[in-house]
Amino acid sequence: MTGKATASAAANIAFIKYWGIRDEERILPVNPSISMTLSACQSRCTVELLAQSAESEVLLLDQDGGLVPAPERFAAGVFAQVRRLSERIGESAPMRVAAHNNFPTGAGLASSAAGFSALTVATLGAFGHDADPTELSVMARMSGSGSAARSVFGGYVEWPAGPHDSAGHAVQLAPPEYWALCNVIAIVDPSPKSVSSREGHRAAPSSPYYERRQEELPGRLEIVRKAIAARDLELLGPVIEKDAVELHLVAMSSEPPIFYWQAGTLAVLEAARRLRAAGTSVYCTIDAGPNVHLICAPRDENKVATELESLEHVLYVIRDRVGGAPTLEAEHLF
Ligand code: DP6
Repeated sequence: MTGKATASAAANIAFIKYWGIRDEERILPVNPSISMTLSACQSRCTVELLAQSAESEVLLLDQDGGLVPAPERFAAGVFAQVRRLSERIGESAPMRVAAHNNFPTGAGLASSAAGFSALTVATLGAFGHDADPTELSVMARMSGSGSAARSVFGGYVEWPAGPHDSAGHAVQLAPPEYWALCNVIAIVDPSPKSVSSREGHRAAPSSPYYERRQEELPGRLEIVRKAIAARDLELLGPVIEKDAVELHLVAMSSEPPIFYWQAGTLAVLEAARRLRAAGTSVYCTIDAGPNVHLICAPRDENKVATELESLEHVLYVIRDRVGGAPTLEAEHLF
């Protein structure tokens, strides 16, 4: 048993979105989803096992690099996941957990996916427990952040809707080096969203457009798989943009209606259309938040980022790319 481990895990951006949950206890999705794991948006997590008499604590790195107690809700989510992991591997101990995201938390940038993947890998590392990526995916999914099931793999990843039991896990479609795609993220509001993805999943079936999207999904998933296999951005782009817009159409028309978009969201969508009209191959996707992800080839990254930075509504831009699986790090947070 090593006793202490630190893991880094990246966020992921969904090309075909998970939107609708069919089993909230086991975190099983209604529809399959496909994503690209990122490299710049990273969560780091250190887990240290403590003496049996010690009390567990969860800390966050503050802006000055110091560690401060995490808000109660955040700590509760961490403890709940640690309990699930302990039950699964049959080992438990009080622990000190520290976490840090190098990108906005709760703003629709998959910080939970990155955070729970890092926590899962670090906890297993601290217990000296080896798990293959499939088992890691099952465990990350159990955190409640279904998209975390995808962040334990690098590259291009699919999370199927079946099998219809608790063993559901994601699979890698292609490694990161297979296709060097960029994701330029336009931050129009970095603050935490007011409606969680879970509330969105629950409300989704009440939208009149929900069933329609489900009917479209098998065809869309097939195109995305083909586009990844063929490294074909012209095939991929229109489909991912359509699916993102439809997620928000479903959200806006569900009961209660959920509006993640802001004025800046539309301004960025418009800028992408302008870039396309001028010959740049760039396509948008948006998770459950107002910030927009622009997918393009590396040769167009500078042009896309510069255009976004010129927009009044864009506070800043994150230049991200396809990236790898979580890693164990030698340097700890404490
Ligand atoms: C819109 O339930 O995985 O990002 O718990 O906040 O991580 P968190 O969300 P989750 O739902 C993700 C919804 C989505 C689409 C997607 O990533 O597939």
